[in-house]
Amino acid sequence: MKKITIAIDGYSSTGKSTIAKKLAKKLGYVYVDTGAMYRAVALYCLENHLIKENEVLKEELIEKLPEIELLFKITPQTGNADIHLNGKNVEKDIRTLRVSNVVSMVAAVSEVRKKLVQQQQRMGAHKGLVMDGRDIGTVVFPDAELKIFMTASPEKRAIRRYKELIDRGDNVIYDEVLKNVQNRDHIDSTRKDSPLREANDAVKIDSTNLDLEETYKKCLQLALHAIEG
Ligand code: DC
Repeated sequence: MKKITIAIDGYSSTGKSTIAKKLAKKLGYVYVDTGAMYRAVALYCLENHLIKENEVLKEELIEKLPEIELLFKITPQTGNADIHLNGKNVEKDIRTLRVSNVVSMVAAVSEVRKKLVQQQQRMGAHKGLVMDGRDIGTVVFPDAELKIFMTASPEKRAIRRYKELIDRGDNVIYDEVLKNVQNRDHIDSTRKDSPLREANDAVKIDSTNLDLEETYKKCLQLALHAIEG
């Protein structure tokens, strides 16, 4: 069967990652969660005091970039490809609201994007890949055979995120999660370098009124069609 590149972009908490992971498993493809890479750099910034008064210390971060090593490694117990920051599995640490609150700022730094985009292009050099993020279909793999752009209302996305965080045992308030979702939408879509936008040739899926299974089925249909086409 022909192998293709599938780019899944869109707003936060639209179910992108869950669907991309499931799709990759079904097709026997490699899955890359690029949001995890930006989150790991944001965690590095928090741990190394590179964020002061809600601002990224850009020059210091650029200087430290060569020291930031990101690697996806399979955890044998779960079979998941977890992200490692300088040798440490940080998959759990990057999913907190603390990281979510600063990640868009970090992802707006062009030098960070340049480093991560190069690594993503290397990881996807061979086809048979599902990659999710914000700029995969527009910047990382503009020639991807299938591009999906996912949206849903901010309120619906915040409810999903809130439930996820509560299920993990995090003590969060819904209004705070909604504020974070709206704030990230704003920063991600208005930043100068590769803002979040739909590629001209992307298929748009609005999951406001779809559950994960329904959304997944639509994506799988699109993928099988693209593979056969
Ligand atoms: O998909 P996510 O919510 O885990 O992504 C976290 C942040 O990283 C998001 O607010 C924007 C940024 N991001 C990006 O700028 N480009 C990508 N390809 C992926 C994520």
